[in-house]
Amino acid sequence: MVGLGTMGRNLVLNIADHGFAVCGYDRDVAQQQRLVTEGAGKPVTAVATMQQLVDSLEKPAKIMLLVPAGKIVDAVLAELVPLLQKDDIVIDGGNSHFTDTDRRYTQLQQSGIHFMGMGVSGGEEGARFGPSMMPGSNEQSFNAVKNILESIAAKTEDGPCVTFIGNGAAGHYTKMVHNGIEYAMMQLISEVYGLLKNVGGLYNEELQQTFANWNSSELQGFLMEITANVFLKKDDKNDAFLVDMILDKAKQKGTGMWTSQSAMDLNVPIPVIDAAVSMRYLSAMKEERVATAAKYASEKSSATVNKEELVNDCKAALQFAFTLAYAQGLHLLYEASKAFNYNVNIAEVVRIWKGGCIIRSSLLNDIRKAYLEDSSLNNIIHSPVFIDTLKSMRDAAEQLCSTGIKNKIPLAAFAASLNYFDAYCTAKLPANLVQAQRDFFGAHTYERTDAPGSFHTDWK
Ligand code: 6PG
Repeated sequence: MVGLGTMGRNLVLNIADHGFAVCGYDRDVAQQQRLVTEGAGKPVTAVATMQQLVDSLEKPAKIMLLVPAGKIVDAVLAELVPLLQKDDIVIDGGNSHFTDTDRRYTQLQQSGIHFMGMGVSGGEEGARFGPSMMPGSNEQSFNAVKNILESIAAKTEDGPCVTFIGNGAAGHYTKMVHNGIEYAMMQLISEVYGLLKNVGGLYNEELQQTFANWNSSELQGFLMEITANVFLKKDDKNDAFLVDMILDKAKQKGTGMWTSQSAMDLNVPIPVIDAAVSMRYLSAMKEERVATAAKYASEKSSATVNKEELVNDCKAALQFAFTLAYAQGLHLLYEASKAFNYNVNIAEVVRIWKGGCIIRSSLLNDIRKAYLEDSSLNNIIHSPVFIDTLKSMRDAAEQLCSTGIKNKIPLAAFAASLNYFDAYCTAKLPANLVQAQRDFFGAHTYERTDAPGSFHTDWK
């Protein structure tokens, strides 16, 4: 293992717990020391140089990097690759951009070294006790490390949460999509929180109870569970709840943005994820928001809401919008797999997201069912598994958006999910007018409803 930060150390300990001997290297001596302390009694060693690391390994060497994505991965590879031999395997377990992984895969292939981009999800806890892992590259390299990965992965009733995802950068692409969905689900949860707190008047105790109840329902999932647990955590500096003391500026490392960028490149609509990314940017503009709030100060609606109805609408709307967030992410993955020849089996991706990762939830059972019933499915919106449920939950999303708009509570991700669904289900959109305008000012031509071919009109 190269990189002994918390994720790297925890993965080392996880691997060692499953009976594999592991050697760790980090430039930082303090991190080497930490590994020695935490790994006491386990088949774990720490070394001070990359050369010692390579020398300590059986051939072909299996080396995993858990270092920050970007230039550092290239710097580590520049030092490591000259020490390697043909058939050695290098696994990048960070959140690298798929185009970087593509480039590194091709470069290392020239020296006969296998480079495997592998998404790892589940945070520190997942790394230590069972992550969900998304390895790409080629089946040969995957098979060489399969037994280790399957041993350390999270397990569900459907098997270990790791599978060979697909060719080249497929693993990192899939992890990026996972993170796009993660952004969308987190944004949707925060919008519900804003509504329940500011319109419903729910106290933290009630919020905790509501999310805990939802976590025992069809909405069961990791993000529901941790959200319920957040509300009652007390600040250690005063008497307040910690969540109420946290500044409302959401940061990001960029994987959600990459998902939106790639979707734009591939012409795939993923508006719930886009809205989540944009809302992180809007949240970060704290000072501007404070200034404009003063300029545009206005009366809030005084209409009373029925708390119970609001909570019920939130629940159904969350299920509706979560389903569409998964739908959009997986639609993107479907198109990317075709465009980049990844050859991804989406039912398998959904299976390995059922445990260990941040977006694990019981909704994935039905999503998997939809793909198992029809492996050529581009979007679960078409699946008989979802038609009745999406239909029945749509109105709750409408009700929620209308309550939000009346009360000036931004629900960008919910509105995006509703508009996406309504547009997807509209046989005739007003895009004929856009075509007319394009042809009017740019002679871009249009198609007709009553004849094939493309047409141009002199509109003046
Ligand atoms: C995971 C997470 C993780 C990601 C964090 C932070 O699957 O374990 O996706 O990889 O780094 O969620 O992401 P942001 O800083 O962009 O919110």
